[in-house]
Amino acid sequence: MTDTYTVTIEPLDREVECAEDQPILDACLRAGVWLPHACTHGTCGTCKLQVLDGDIEHNDASDFALMEFERNEGKALVCVATPTSDVTIEADVEIEEGVTFHPVDDYVGTVVALDDIARETRRLVIDLDKDMPFNPGQYVMLEVPGQGVTRTYSMANPPSEPNRIELQIRRTPGGLGTDGWIFKSLAVGDRIAISGPYGRFFLRETRPEPAILIGGGTGLAPLKSIVRHVLEQGTGQRLYLYQGARGQADLYDVEFYRELEARHPDQFTYRPCLSHEEWDGATGMVTDVVSADFETCRKHTAYLCGPPPMVEAALKTLMRKRLFPKDIYREDFFDASDKATGGVRSPLLRT
Ligand SMILES: Cc1cc2nc3c(=O)[nH]c(=O)nc-3n(C[C@H](O)[C@H](O)[C@H](O)COP(=O)(O)OP(=O)(O)OC[C@H]3O[C@@H](n4cnc5c(N)ncnc54)[C@H](O)[C@@H]3O)c2cc1C
Ligand code: FES
Repeated sequence: MTDTYTVTIEPLDREVECAEDQPILDACLRAGVWLPHACTHGTCGTCKLQVLDGDIEHNDASDFALMEFERNEGKALVCVATPTSDVTIEADVEIEEGVTFHPVDDYVGTVVALDDIARETRRLVIDLDKDMPFNPGQYVMLEVPGQGVTRTYSMANPPSEPNRIELQIRRTPGGLGTDGWIFKSLAVGDRIAISGPYGRFFLRETRPEPAILIGGGTGLAPLKSIVRHVLEQGTGQRLYLYQGARGQADLYDVEFYRELEARHPDQFTYRPCLSHEEWDGATGMVTDVVSADFETCRKHTAYLCGPPPMVEAALKTLMRKRLFPKDIYREDFFDASDKATGGVRSPLLRT
């Protein structure tokens, strides 16, 4: 039988029950206690907090995200740490005005479509057994069958479609989840164990400033959710979507965005950029194209998503253009290699 422990969260003075094999973050998110987190795989360090009392296992925490001296000081990455006794943790819980947090829950999904949409890229559409409320930009975890691991993918559908999720997935050579499953054996009709929603990369509806959205590769997925949501809501918020890719074979959903642009010419601008191919659209690194388009980015917000080096480069570009860290939201698509090598993190941002 699995033992269960009590986790007390200070300064909230909330108690949640946590199984011995359950990450502390997971228990909190399911109980409606929202703690800061991003990757949920022990890589980024966003969920680091102080254990005030009791014992935990660090499990799969990256040595880069949680250094030896921090472990000795009683710090933990709660997205992977599990309790071995009752514990008390001190959480840095920010209350963000106007944000609704949706508790994490389990779902059973059925694959209804799986298509190649670009080079090494698939669109996976899954029907859920019940509605999943979420904020546009958040992600889900899929259980990789028979491997005892989960992989995270951002939802490209808007919250108005809560029981059919769209994922856009790029193949990682040698990857367990993609090469070993989604690009190998997964088929229409298959059942998938899913949990969600996760993450704090989502549209801040309280920020009406024009938003610059920059996605590299499948980093476009959560941005599609944001774009569709904003246009559906009819708030009039101005959106500039930049899609960075190497060549035309890597672009997808181009017609979809061009059509949206034609329907909302004063609100939505779509800029696909190719870094390794001449064509009749924007050519160069996506960051250089943004840089040329905006004299200053002051009075904007930005949402950056994709491979960590691209996110880092975009962050630096925007800051040179006078955007402050508080105006920039980022999602780094970390994978297992980032956990082993430390990935790329800017000291400028906590998220
Ligand atoms: C919040 C979040 C949202 C994401 N959303 C998306 C999305 O919408 N679309 C998308 O395509 N991706 C997304 N990702 C990335 C995705 O979760 C996976 O990391 C990616 O698909 C690779 O998974 P994998 O199982 O195929 O590869 P993994 O098994 O994670 O392996 C990745 C690479 O690391 C290598 N590797 C494995 N172990 C080690 C080791 N110990 N040392 C060195 N190298 C190692 C592997 O050989 C492989 O090349 C997201 C990631 C995060 C954190
Ligand atoms: S959320 Fe825990 S390390 Fe990233």
